[in-house]
Amino acid sequence: MMHFLHCVLMLIFVISDDTLGFSVRGPSGPLVVPLGGSVILPCYVERPLAAEKVKVVWKRTDSEALVHLYQDGESRPEAQQQEYHDRAYFFTDQIQHGNFSLRLENVRAEDKGVYRCKVYSQQLADKTLVEIKDVERLLVSGSDESVSAYDGEDVTLNCSVDSHIKPEDMEVSWKKRDEDILLFQNNETFSDSSDERDRDRVEFFTAEIPKGNFSLRLKSVRTEDKGVYMCLVFAGGLSVNTTVVLVQLGFSWLHITALILCIVASGCALLSWLVYSRTGNQGVI
Ligand SMILES: *[C@@H]1O[C@H](CO)[C@@H](O)[C@H](O)[C@H]1NC(C)=O
Ligand SMILES: *[C@@H]1O[C@H](CO)[C@@H](O)[C@H](O)[C@H]1NC(C)=O
Ligand SMILES: *[C@@H]1O[C@H](CO)[C@@H](O)[C@H](O)[C@H]1NC(C)=O
Ligand SMILES: *[C@@H]1O[C@H](CO)[C@@H](O)[C@H](O)[C@H]1NC(C)=O
Repeated sequence: MMHFLHCVLMLIFVISDDTLGFSVRGPSGPLVVPLGGSVILPCYVERPLAAEKVKVVWKRTDSEALVHLYQDGESRPEAQQQEYHDRAYFFTDQIQHGNFSLRLENVRAEDKGVYRCKVYSQQLADKTLVEIKDVERLLVSGSDESVSAYDGEDVTLNCSVDSHIKPEDMEVSWKKRDEDILLFQNNETFSDSSDERDRDRVEFFTAEIPKGNFSLRLKSVRTEDKGVYMCLVFAGGLSVNTTVVLVQLGFSWLHITALILCIVASGCALLSWLVYSRTGNQGVI
């Protein structure tokens, strides 16, 4: 009787072992990673599987891009998508412990998404999903080159923000750096002058804010507008800034045309005066 019971127990054990398979586990929740940092995407089984018979496929669920492949006892970098070549690290020595986790290094904004870890062993397979919910970043860019404008023209000073934080939750201000003049802060434009007429010279693209575009429009620029402008962004306890250099080219074509006409006109006047005085003199002699 004892022997029979033992046999039944053994049978149950064998069935659960090889037929009922295994269960792949992942993280308890979504992951949040800093930009440029590294993260372990957890994937494991409670009870180790025979390492040489295991196949582990790590893929992104949206693009089905192959992040890492382990097959026939080794990693297969040749099958891997190029962008993961030097960034996805599989712990081959951990397989014997049923650990199929992947370390993703130098995390980029595009790494945000859902990853599938699928484990094959003998005729069976199971999978788990790992989500990178956010890549924490706060990046701001302005203009690489200086912005030039003629007298009286309107210019746009670029400032765009790339972040995991929503643009609505950011605090943005614009300043003219040299003179420390505040032009925009907390959704309000300021004038660089007490003059009533100058009030509307600074404009903000409110509709562009959801896209992280915090560019500033400066209307009818003048010589004194020349200088370095700074866009400052505060969000999530962090602060970043960028600068835009505004150079003024002085006269516009309109000015130059007027100037040429003026020179031509005064030349004509001078010439006719010379001719007149000459003929006048001749008359006297
Ligand atoms: C898997 O291995 C990695 C690297 O050694 C380790 O950081 C991680 O905690 C391990 N995960 C489990 C579930 O053992
Ligand atoms: C400002 O941004 C726009 C849109 O990205 C771009 O086309 C333009 O060249 C930028 N201007 C400068 C001066 O960088
Ligand atoms: C921001 O929006 C304005 C208005 O649509 C546009 O002229 C400018 O190029 C945009 N800047 C960037 C950096 O996208
Ligand atoms: C900024 O002002 C615009 C319109 O003036 C408004 O729609 C928007 O909600 C304001 N944003 C904030 C953060 O106060």
